[in-house]
Amino acid sequence: MLRRLHSEQPDSFAFTADNQAWAEAQIKKYPEGRQASAIIPLLWRAQEQEGWLSRPAIEHVSDMLDLAFIRGLEVASFYFMFQLQPVGKIAHIQICGTTSCMICGAEDLVAVCQEKIAPKAHQISVDGNFSWEEVECLGACANAPMAQIGKDYFEDLTAERLGTLLDELAAGKTPQVGPQNGRFAAEPAGGITSLTDFVNAKIKLNASAQLAHDIGDSVKRIDGTEVPLLTPWIDKAANSGAKPPKPAARPKPANAQKAAVKPAATKAKSTAKPKASDDAGKKPRTMKAPRKAGADDLKLIKGVGPKLEKLLNEMGFFHYDQIAKWAPAELAWVDANLEGFIGRASRDNWIDQAKSLAS
Ligand code: FES
Repeated sequence: MLRRLHSEQPDSFAFTADNQAWAEAQIKKYPEGRQASAIIPLLWRAQEQEGWLSRPAIEHVSDMLDLAFIRGLEVASFYFMFQLQPVGKIAHIQICGTTSCMICGAEDLVAVCQEKIAPKAHQISVDGNFSWEEVECLGACANAPMAQIGKDYFEDLTAERLGTLLDELAAGKTPQVGPQNGRFAAEPAGGITSLTDFVNAKIKLNASAQLAHDIGDSVKRIDGTEVPLLTPWIDKAANSGAKPPKPAARPKPANAQKAAVKPAATKAKSTAKPKASDDAGKKPRTMKAPRKAGADDLKLIKGVGPKLEKLLNEMGFFHYDQIAKWAPAELAWVDANLEGFIGRASRDNWIDQAKSLAS
């Protein structure tokens, strides 16, 4: 397939202030003289911001890395993950058309795209909201047929379900990502036959699907409207619930009406911390502050990182013996109130871990 720059190009490109800071931090990861190695993450971030890679974007990234434009273009035009033409404002749908998916109905999914989006791949729908293409195997063959939309996989699709998915996205909703037929992951369609205690009843979705569900994200561009969870390079104040910074003004592409309007689906959600829910289980006893000897290092519990430790401390948990004493109903309460990490406490068996750490 011939991959060329699009015939219509914007006049300029600039990263948002946050993305620029992120890009500069990426470059520092590489030893002196090897900064060119940052080309793929930088091009990818440019695409995550704009939806596609324009010539000015490739030039901007090449300049940042002290590369000739042709070097940047070589990379951008080699990898099919880079879109060299504008894509739909809301989402670009990538239908897997390789063997498993083809056998299981990928052609029906392509037909839905042709009917609801545009007759040909890479054409933008009349309303500017969607575009589509057929891609090679995306590595989810056990859940064929499937599509990648935005950051997520939508698996075990039917033509009917893909149609409603597009309607949900057009209405600004975040459809449930992952398997669409009730499967947890890639277990047999009739249900799991081994490791039956692995799937905890409280964990309804697998990890990436759960995260997409929790943060209501699937197709947002990283243009300053995303939730702070996706911008860990932003300082702690921004991540603690303050409003995300406004995106820097972006140049309008030549086909401005198609690519410059921000989709309703990508509007920032409130970043205010949700109130603790008492709907699930019973709130365990908490403490206002750690004991005099200081808080335990909760990060020694597998699955607890600095962010979760901070969250636990804010909830009033500082010590292993507090966690070790949680009754099942209390565990359910904690699971339901771990904002962004729902179900993590039971999934990683914190109680048993805390018991042995306490002892
Ligand atoms: S064949 Fe479609 S994901 Fe592998």
